[in-house]
Amino acid sequence: MEYSEKVMDHFANPRNVGVIEDANAVGEVGNAKCGDIMKMYMKINDDGVIEDIKFKTFGCGAAVATSSMATELVKGKTIEEALKLTNKAVAEALDGLPPVKMHCSVLAEEAIQAALTDYYTRKGLNPADYIKK
Ligand code: FES
Repeated sequence: MEYSEKVMDHFANPRNVGVIEDANAVGEVGNAKCGDIMKMYMKINDDGVIEDIKFKTFGCGAAVATSSMATELVKGKTIEEALKLTNKAVAEALDGLPPVKMHCSVLAEEAIQAALTDYYTRKGLNPADYIKK
């Protein structure tokens, strides 16, 4: 299996690893087949901008690399922009993933969506009104 240099870089030096203690959006997703788990923490300000984001991924190298890239892509962006991030865009930003590893990038997209679902739920809002999937 061939990995791009960018995948190797984000695997070896993942960006935004960790936990945000006072996060106001937390999402955890997993893939039942491979058993990998990804957790995202966000600090979203009153303007709806993702000021900070961190992740913990217990999974394969591609899952770590896609989490890392996904956090980089949504950091400083608005919720609306983050909701538009697709797994394909994450994979493209990494110069591609082997086909059998595309599901790892799906986990990254789902983790962001899960965190934003949590954000709206905490506000007493119905996530389905905001997150159209
Ligand atoms: Fe399942 Fe990578 S092998 S997330």
